[in-house]
Parts: sequence; C-alpha cells; structure tokens
Amino acid sequence: MTYSKIAGTGRYLPERVLTNFDLEKIVETSDEWIRTRTGVERRHVCADDETTSDMCVEAAKVAIEDAGIDVSDIDFVIVGTTTPDLIFPNIATLIQHRLGIPACTAFSLEAACTGFIYALTTTDKFIKAGGTKCALVIGAECITKLVDWKDRNTCVLFGDGAGAVIVKPSDEAGIISCHLGADGQYKELLYYPVGASKDLHKAGTDDVAITMKGNEVFKVAVKTLGNVAKAALDAAGIDKSELDWLIPHQANMRIIQATAKRLGLPLDKVIVTVQDHGNTSAASVPMAFDVGIRDGRIQRGQLVLMEAFGGGFTWGSVLMRY
Ligand code: COA
Repeated sequence: MTYSKIAGTGRYLPERVLTNFDLEKIVETSDEWIRTRTGVERRHVCADDETTSDMCVEAAKVAIEDAGIDVSDIDFVIVGTTTPDLIFPNIATLIQHRLGIPACTAFSLEAACTGFIYALTTTDKFIKAGGTKCALVIGAECITKLVDWKDRNTCVLFGDGAGAVIVKPSDEAGIISCHLGADGQYKELLYYPVGASKDLHKAGTDDVAITMKGNEVFKVAVKTLGNVAKAALDAAGIDKSELDWLIPHQANMRIIQATAKRLGLPLDKVIVTVQDHGNTSAASVPMAFDVGIRDGRIQRGQLVLMEAFGGGFTWGSVLMRY
C-alpha cells in the first residue's frame, strides 16, 4: 500500500510582532481580556508590501531543505489560503515560478482556516492515485490585511504566517485517514463580505472587514472539532489513548482546551502556538506542526492528529504516523 509521508516541514512568520499591549493603544481592550478570553499574547503581522506568496516562498525553502530534496523533484504544488496575492493566476503558480520548480500541477484552494487540512487531504488523494512523486503543500494567510483595526471583537484574534510541508509516497505509514466537511448554513457567523464577483470595489473601505459572531462560532467549533477528530480515529480503528500529539487549529485557547478534553488528552500532548501566533487561519496547523517537530517533541513514528475549523463553516482532520 502507498502512503503519503511528510518528508520535511518549514514555517515563516513576518518580522513585525504586535503584542496585546500594542493593541491596547489601538482599540479599547486589555492584555488581560485578550489573554483570558483567547490565550493570544502576540501575533506577527505582514509589512504593507509583504504578500502571502512572499511568506510561502520562505516557508517552502525551509521545508525543501529539511526534506533534503531539490526543487526539481517537486511535481505538485498546492496552497490553502483565502488571502492569495492576486485573484489570478493562482498563488501556487507564483510560488512554483519563484522557487524555480519545473512546470507542474499547481493550484490553490480556499477553505478558510481549514485550508491546509483540505490541501493535505487533496495531496494524499493525488499521491494514492499515483503519478505525484513529491508535493509541496502550504497553508498561508495574510489575514491581518482583511481585519478592521478599529473592531476589537476581531482585530485582537488574528495573525499572519505560512507553514509548508513536503509530502512523498512511501511504503511506510504515513497519512492514515482524512476527513473533510463543510456546511454553508453557517456563513453568516463568520465571513468576509466582498470578493471577485461581489462588491470588489468596496474592498479596502471602512464598511468591509471580517464579520463574526464570536460566541456562536465558539459553540459550533467545539462541537464540530470533537466530532471530526473522532471520525478520523474511528475510520482508522485507533483509540484516542494511542494518540501521541494533537495539532489543533490555533483559534482560541479555550477551544483547544475543550477539544483536548473531549479527546481525553492532557494539554502536554497538544501543540499550542496560539499565544505567539494568534489565529493565522490556514497557516496555523502547519506552523504548529513545524514548531512541535523542531523543538523535538514530535518524533518519527508517532501518531499525530491534526484538526481545523474555519469560516463557511469548513472543518477537517488528518491522522498520520509522522
Ligand atoms: N477587549 C475587551 N472587550 C472586548 C473585546 C476586546 N478585544 N472584544 C469583545 N469585547 C467585549 C464585547 O464587546 C462584550 O462586551 P459587552 O458584554 O459589553 O457587549 C464582552 O467583551 C463579551 O463579549 P463576548 O463575545 O461574549 O465574549 P466571549 O467570551 O465570547 O469572547 C471571543 C469573544 C471572540 C474571544 C470568543 O467568542 C471566540 O474566541 N470565539 C471564536 C472565534 C473564532 O475562533 N473565530 C475563528 C474561527 S476559525
């Protein structure tokens, strides 16, 4: 049987760091409120002239080096993001060209904060179907450019970044099970109100920003993440007690704690980066994965469960032996 196996990881965070104390000077909030309600202490923010593809290229270079491959080995580039540089061409083609990757399959998909889980699952299907030999898979977001910096309900939550992995076919496990879901009935709870075919001319004006009903998002997120984590384990016939690591989407510390509790996992088996990164949307899971690997916690052969939840709503989980 062919599995998809992670061969290398990388991440990139913009240089500029915005602390909760910096935010106290921008909106009526406090470090104490942000930390106790969300767990966030600081977040990285793109420079005005920094784009999502800039971050992707840097994260990808690290993952390519970590995997010990050459750019010419890559035959598949996929990016999960809702903040591409341009409406077209798709951001994966920009990255393919900038890295000097030979012409290949290159596309992006948008699933909000679940973007990386959707991209990794799609890659797994391509690898298992045969033909794809070396994939560059990225989750990245320049989400702070969509934020209204006058809205304390949302501006304290988000940050920017990019996480990348190299995935190759292997006889050894690998990705064991993937589960994706979405339900558009929840659109009103979390959305960005303009796009390529709707009111594009209003983008960048004061009326347009991320719109969120935080409380309601919270409730659906906790329930859905518990279910999708269980679905991945059940499909593989693996008991939650066998899990070595949970890598959750880093939206809010209280959501992370509730999900870990439902899985019966102590917090020291959960990779948590929300305090340093904030909610980086599609970048949060691959960056947390990279943090856990590079600081030596996640070891080869261990059982890792990734899960995410995002606007739409979308959700997903990937269970793997690293
Ligand atoms: N600083 C100070 N006060 C703030 C604030 C801030 N940054 N943001 C909101 N408040 C206020 C609200 O105005 C409200 O005041 P009011 O009672 O006078 O109206 C009060 O705090 C409580 O608001 P509430 O929305 O009930 O707080 P909460 O405990 O639900 O926490 C969130 C708010 C956004 C942190 C929380 O709901 C959350 O994390 N939801 C999930 C969001 C998410 O994860 N989104 C991305 C999904 S991928």
